Amino acid sequence: MDHSQLFFKHLAPTNPFPVGIEIDYAEGSWIYGPKGKWLDLIAGIAVCSVGHRHPNVVAAIHQQVDRYLHTMVYGEYVQDANTRLAQKLTSLLPSTLDCIYLVNSGTEANEAAIKMARRATGRSQIISFHKSYHGNTMGSLSISGNETKKAAFRPLIPDVDFIQLNRWEDLDRITSNTAGVILEPVQGDAGVRTAHNDYLVALRNKCTEVGALLIFDEIQCGVGRTGSWYYFQQTPVVPDAFTTAKGFGGGLPIGALVASKELHALWAHAPMLGHITTFGGNPVCSASALAVLETIESEKLMDQIPEKANFIRSRLNHPQILEIRNEGLMFAVDLKSEEEVGKLFDYCLQNGVIIYRFLSSPSSFRMAPPLTISLEELEFGMKVILEGLNVLK
Ligand SMILES: Cc1ncc(COP(=O)(O)O)c(C=O)c1O
Repeated sequence: MDHSQLFFKHLAPTNPFPVGIEIDYAEGSWIYGPKGKWLDLIAGIAVCSVGHRHPNVVAAIHQQVDRYLHTMVYGEYVQDANTRLAQKLTSLLPSTLDCIYLVNSGTEANEAAIKMARRATGRSQIISFHKSYHGNTMGSLSISGNETKKAAFRPLIPDVDFIQLNRWEDLDRITSNTAGVILEPVQGDAGVRTAHNDYLVALRNKCTEVGALLIFDEIQCGVGRTGSWYYFQQTPVVPDAFTTAKGFGGGLPIGALVASKELHALWAHAPMLGHITTFGGNPVCSASALAVLETIESEKLMDQIPEKANFIRSRLNHPQILEIRNEGLMFAVDLKSEEEVGKLFDYCLQNGVIIYRFLSSPSSFRMAPPLTISLEELEFGMKVILEGLNVLK
C-alpha cells in the first residue's frame, strides 16, 4: 500500500474530501511532494508565519533537542526555554499582561481562558460572538458561534450567550452576571471581520463597568500577522487576557493564555492546581516559539506587511471577486458561491498554489501566507489565482 492508501485506511478523516496531497518536505514558502510543489498561501492556516523550516527555528529546536525534551509537567521545574520565552513575549506587551500560562494548542488556551474568567469572577456566564471560532474541545466549542458544527455534540457547557460583532445594542447583554467576554478582534473563520475601534472601546468600558474579564482570542490574528505583535496593539484597548497559538510555535504545537500575574496567581490556590497540563510549555516548542518572535523582530517582517498586503490587493483585480477583506496578511476574498471557491481551490492546487476555505464564510477563500513570502512568490501566486478566476467566468 502506498502512503495515500494508508492515509485513507488508517487515519481518521475530518471530512469526505481532504486535500490529500502527499508531502515530502517544505522550505520557505514552498511545500514539496513526490508529485509536485506548491506555493503555500495559507501557511498551515496561519501557523508557519516565518515560513517552513526557517533556519533560526530549526537551529533553536536542534539546540533544545540536544539538551532535553520533557523533564516535568508544566509549572514545576525552571526550564530556560520557558523563562526566555515568557520574558520575550511579555516584553512586547503592555505592563498589565506580564504573565503567561503555556499550553499545547489554541483550543487549550481558550479552555484556560474560560476557566480563568469563571475563577476570577465567581460567575459562570461567558459572552461570545456569532460566527466566532475558538476551537474544538468541549469548552471552546461551546463558545464558538458556528451552530451547525455544534448541534451534534450538545449538551455543551451551559451559560454561554452570543452577540453580534460591532452591534452596539448587544453590549447591554453583558451584565454583572457575566464572567468574561471572549472575542477574536479580527474574526478569522468568519471571513476576516474586524471589530471597530469605537466598538472595542465601548466593549472594554462595559466589561470594566460590570467586572467581567475581556479576553481576546488572537490565535489566528496574533504573532505579527496583522502588522503588530497582537492585533489589539493597533487599537485603543488592552484586554484583561488574550490567547495565542498557531503562528506562535512556527510549526510546533504551543499556545498560551496571557494575563496579569494577579489573575494567573489564582490557579495556585482554591483549588491548588486549578489548571494543569503535562505537555504545556514543552521546551522544544518553547524554544521554537522564542525563535519565531526573534525572527519576526530581526527580519523586520511586520514592517514589510503593508507592502505585501497592498501587492495582493492590487493584483486581485478581477470581475469574479466581489470583495476583499484583510488585516495585514490575513485575507478573505469573496466570490459568488461556495462552488466557485471549490473550483478555484482545485485549479490552484493543480497549478502549484495552495489557498483554502472558511467554515463560516463558505463563499470566500482564505489566504494567510508566511510573513516571509517574497513579492516574486506573491506575483506567481496571484497569477495562478487570476488564471483560475478566468476559468470560472
Ligand atoms: C481564532 C481561533 N481560535 C482558536 C483556534 C483553535 O486552535 P487549535 O486548532 O490550535 O486548537 C483557531 C484555529 O483555527 C482559531 O482560528
